[in-house]
Amino acid sequence: MKKIILDCDTGLDDAVAIINAVADKDIDLIGITTVAGNVNLKYTTRNTLDILYSIGREDIGVYMGEKKPLKKELHTAEDFHGESGIGDLILERSPVSCKNIHATEFMAKTIVENPGEIIIAAVGPLTNVASLLIKYPQIKKDIRGITVMGGSLSGGNVTSFAEFNIYADPEAAQVVFSSEVPVTMIGLDATMRAKFQKNDLDFLREKNTKWSSMTVEIFDSMFRIRDSHGKDFVVLHDSIALIASTETELFTFENHPILISTEGEKRGETKVHKSGQRTKVAVGFDSEGFKRYMKDILGNTEG
Ligand code: RIB
Ligand code: CA
Repeated sequence: MKKIILDCDTGLDDAVAIINAVADKDIDLIGITTVAGNVNLKYTTRNTLDILYSIGREDIGVYMGEKKPLKKELHTAEDFHGESGIGDLILERSPVSCKNIHATEFMAKTIVENPGEIIIAAVGPLTNVASLLIKYPQIKKDIRGITVMGGSLSGGNVTSFAEFNIYADPEAAQVVFSSEVPVTMIGLDATMRAKFQKNDLDFLREKNTKWSSMTVEIFDSMFRIRDSHGKDFVVLHDSIALIASTETELFTFENHPILISTEGEKRGETKVHKSGQRTKVAVGFDSEGFKRYMKDILGNTEG
């Protein structure tokens, strides 16, 4: 099992990643930290609590983090995640609140108590992770790795250069990528290879468990939004990044020096450049293998 802290900006694909993290027996989900990104911090935190409650796992600790990027103004993505961040879903309010310590304090405490074991799976802007490394530089040596859902070597999804999570807080990304903590970049080069069509999760529809029902509800909400954009597929970016340290055979990795742009039209670009930081980059992904994975962990469990 891998001990993972999931740092997310719960939006719709983050919500599926949360269910994956709970359902996957190879993942020991230590806790979830929330950051502003797809929507504001209040909503990302509330969505995280409510998703956990909807699958009967409100016992998992949720820790609020940063409400705005290190330097840039908050740039959100309501167009793709809805005003609340959870599409058009109306989730039952969790009776549980987030914990009363800051996300970075929880991360630091957990890393110190588990030296060399904790993987941070960051699937939102890197503001929390950067803040952790700035506040507690001495723990860098104790972090097993940081998996980043973010970046792209082949064009962006916010601008033609930049993927959303990096674009949202490029200064934070620079801090993380230059930290000398092992960083694995799961960017659009990998995630865009796994385009789900509407019938790709049909196997879940007759399962009728908490996990499968909520995943189908989220998936269908994603499609209602994507239909409005004239797109006939969805991409579970965050679920893919989550499993980069456990389902490694699904990925093709290369090591590249990655340089991040913070200003101008190329803000948020992640490019291979000799003055960049050595990063393990996913350049390929087995889409059919991922669909088998989803069927295995969500279709065969009783959650
Ligand atoms: O570019 C995709 C990423 O941006 C995903 O993490 C999605 O949730 C958004 O945060
Ligand atoms: Ca996300």
